[in-house]
Amino acid sequence: MKRLRRTLVLVGLMGAGKTSVGRKLAEALGADFRDSDDEIARAAGRSIPDIFADLGEAAFRDGERRVIARLLDEPPHVLATGGGAFVRAETRALILDRAVSVWLRADLDTLVERTSRRNDRPLLRDGNPREILTRLMAERDPAYSEAAFTVDSRAGGRQEDVAAEIIRKIDRAGELEDVA
Ligand code: S3P
Repeated sequence: MKRLRRTLVLVGLMGAGKTSVGRKLAEALGADFRDSDDEIARAAGRSIPDIFADLGEAAFRDGERRVIARLLDEPPHVLATGGGAFVRAETRALILDRAVSVWLRADLDTLVERTSRRNDRPLLRDGNPREILTRLMAERDPAYSEAAFTVDSRAGGRQEDVAAEIIRKIDRAGELEDVA
């Protein structure tokens, strides 16, 4: 059995599969799974759309940074972050310093298909999701590419396979330790 030495942080756009792959990773590594959006919603006592509507995106981003900083103080676990977290320079620096980061990269069709299943993402509500995601890919991919590792995730692919590839990559880089 292999165990994480540091928290594994998944970054990437909405619909890349951070939450579902994150759960598989946590299961395979015997680690806890956390989702920064869930933690922010809990701390604020309201949903992500309500935080955006009532407090605005800037307040959400501050809360996100604080929540991620707190989670990185906890024992090693698997953490899925909201798509904008790693784009903020301060939050990105924190993650790069304290965790092992993995960019879950997906093509546009995969992102459009996966995000169409839910309607609780404020950034995709006003406008054409394909156009918005195209713009976000152009704006954000340079930041995501600073993650320590990059793994591709495709629609129709198995999340277990993506998780296994992440484990192989970080293990090869010495990020896992053996436990009896
Ligand atoms: C956001 C992504 C969402 C959530 C919020 C903003 C973004 O998380 O944090 O709606 O800026 O990309 P997911 O990536 O988990 O959908």
